[in-house]
Amino acid sequence: MTALAPIDFRSDTLTAPDDAMRHAMASAQVGDDVLDGDPTLQSLEATVADVLGHEAGLWVPSGSMGNLVALIVHLRPGDSVLAPAEAHIFDNEVGTVSWLAGGFPKPLECDHGPGMPSAATVTAAAAATGPYFALRPRLLCLENTHAAAGGAVVTADDSSAVVSAARSAGLTTHLDGARIWNAAVHLGIHPGELASEFDTVQVCLSKGLGAPVGSVVCGSEAFVTEARRVRKMLGGGIRQAGILGAAGLVALERIDRLALDHHHASVLAEGLLDRGWTVSPVTTNIVMTPVDNPVETAESLSAVGIRVLAARSAVRWVTYSGVSLDDVRCALDRVTELTPSAEQRAS
Ligand SMILES: Cc1ncc(COP(=O)(O)O)c(C=O)c1O
Repeated sequence: MTALAPIDFRSDTLTAPDDAMRHAMASAQVGDDVLDGDPTLQSLEATVADVLGHEAGLWVPSGSMGNLVALIVHLRPGDSVLAPAEAHIFDNEVGTVSWLAGGFPKPLECDHGPGMPSAATVTAAAAATGPYFALRPRLLCLENTHAAAGGAVVTADDSSAVVSAARSAGLTTHLDGARIWNAAVHLGIHPGELASEFDTVQVCLSKGLGAPVGSVVCGSEAFVTEARRVRKMLGGGIRQAGILGAAGLVALERIDRLALDHHHASVLAEGLLDRGWTVSPVTTNIVMTPVDNPVETAESLSAVGIRVLAARSAVRWVTYSGVSLDDVRCALDRVTELTPSAEQRAS
């Protein structure tokens, strides 16, 4: 029996550069970005900063480095970092928030919807004072969309409310906007409306937008001057990085097509519901199906040619340009062979 060609829903990081992007990379004008700047990278940094409503931007190889650079600039040992429970900076960046940036994680209850703490929760956590040996609340980091909450979107109003609560309490604010593009497309607004109020923001070009590598971290000119030093400290100064930046410029032209990924995710979600699966609400390109045994469920799906990621209490399906509507339909046909057993459904 020939094995079924797998349909891979594990992550939108599986996007591969197409011919147009490869061509732009091959023909990019470059300089030495560590020495005195690379013109293509500078153009990308200025473009992203402008889109997000910030003074300046700094290209970094990854979203993790973008967040880390910002955290190192903002934090001192003994500070605490407030972020929604299951934030990427807490759970998926090898704890660098603490051991490299010196911040103590304070996960906030998401009492204002998936991935979203209320302003009152932020105020209460930020106001926690104590004797001289207590932690010092320093930074609020929001995530939009919130990956572990199934690509949940934070609206501009909700974002403003927590930023203003944090600011009134004297906190600095950072946005992990790895998928801010998906949030903006879902809301039908300009990404700047979700990013400009934060002191700093990092955005990924390498997820649904399809660049093979690259994020940009934005803030004030003074922030970017410091961030550049930290990037170098972390080994993230790349010489002729314009070759990579060129892919980022092409990626920015592809924001609108994310709506297609969102549509595919909703078709997938409806199909799974019809087949008896439990499905969390879907707003962007991530579908979470809560199950009792995520690892076993992912293995069963793999056996019928569907690749997904096992999360803590769900399996995660992500749509991106490498997954067509036909792929979604084909995957649903394959799922039909696999009606979830009692132990695969969430109890
Ligand atoms: C919300 C969020 N932030 C940050 C990152 C880190 O990005 P990278 O994989 O480029 O380090 C990811 C990656 O999936 C993410 O989902």
